[in-house]
Amino acid sequence: MAKITISLIKADVGGYPGHASVHPKLKEKAKECLKQAKESGLLVDFHVMGAGDDLQLLMSHERGVDDEEIHQLAWDTFVEATQVAKELKLYGAGQDLLKDAFSGNIRGMGPGIAEMEFTEREGEPLIAFMMDKTEPGAFNLPIFKMFADPFNTAGLIIDPTLHDGFVFEIWDIMAHRKVLMRAPEELYDILALIGAKSRYVIKRVYPKETHPKLPSDEPVAVISTEKLYQIAEKYVGKDDPVALVRAQSGLPALGEVLEAFAFPHLVSGWMRGSHNGPVMPVSFRYAQCTRFDGPPRVVAAGFQIANGKLVGPVDLFDDPAFDYTRQKAQEITEYMRRHGPFEPHRLPLEEMEYTTLPEVLKKLESRFESA
Ligand code: 13P
Ligand code: 13P
Ligand code: MG
Ligand code: MG
Repeated sequence: MAKITISLIKADVGGYPGHASVHPKLKEKAKECLKQAKESGLLVDFHVMGAGDDLQLLMSHERGVDDEEIHQLAWDTFVEATQVAKELKLYGAGQDLLKDAFSGNIRGMGPGIAEMEFTEREGEPLIAFMMDKTEPGAFNLPIFKMFADPFNTAGLIIDPTLHDGFVFEIWDIMAHRKVLMRAPEELYDILALIGAKSRYVIKRVYPKETHPKLPSDEPVAVISTEKLYQIAEKYVGKDDPVALVRAQSGLPALGEVLEAFAFPHLVSGWMRGSHNGPVMPVSFRYAQCTRFDGPPRVVAAGFQIANGKLVGPVDLFDDPAFDYTRQKAQEITEYMRRHGPFEPHRLPLEEMEYTTLPEVLKKLESRFESA
């Protein structure tokens, strides 16, 4: 069988209300558009979701990554959904569509993209992770844990097919360059980079050449790395990243992939994209950002891929096993909120550069005298 491509493309085309959630009518419109594309044979299958205020298009097809027609379809779908958002006067209608016209590739136009092409295995579990109110680097910690931390992933120790480790493709999103690094050999160097999550982000994970079951040129995880302010040159909303992760048979088991989210680590985003807070794993039912426009959250949709068909989803964080994590996230939320406008709840100044804070500071400039 031909290789299959899974594309997860998302955009905020209008919040309901404020930046809380996606209006059901936007999802309906998106389903209508993608259904047509499935009927015409462009898509093998699709699934439309909402995470926070972000409209999520999960699509399977046989056209490879960066395909013009697939990207055009996603763009047109967001444009149509924006029309609905405008009629309903949803908040920030068309927020993430930063360019006027489509020109061949949706990258750099506002939406976030995670895509991978691979040979479908006998059993192919795939998890789509979607975060709201945070930035791409928020995936660094959990992706590292899944594929490189033996305290998270028992298979790295006890399963000979995982034992050699994985290759990480890390992007320097400020300098627009990337590097391939190998775990476990280069663990400390990998962490030296990805600990600085606002600059270095994990883009892809690959099996090694020695992997007994999987080709080393087909990714096993991919994360969206689009940074909106770099396109718009000002704060227009958060970059709200998504990721696709394959699991089992030579990869971390489904439960090892999910275990990486049992710790509600601190990420930047939240209110006005300007605050640090914990990322809380929730079911789709609770994928709406409320308290202080948050706290940041992550949802997980689990599928089995069958000849490109998306069998699912299972709402994977809809489980009391994550109640403790959620409780911990509430405590951290309360603790961080008590800092009010003080760092490190509020982001450090250099990260506030693209927000509206510089305008406020500029006003004070003339009042300063030398000290
Ligand atoms: P796989 O060999 O399919 O990855 O199974 C291992 C497993 O699921 C243990 O939890
Ligand atoms: P979104 O990036 O999810 O639209 O949130 C923007 C914001 O300012 C929340 O306070
Ligand atoms: Mg929004
Ligand atoms: Mg959002």
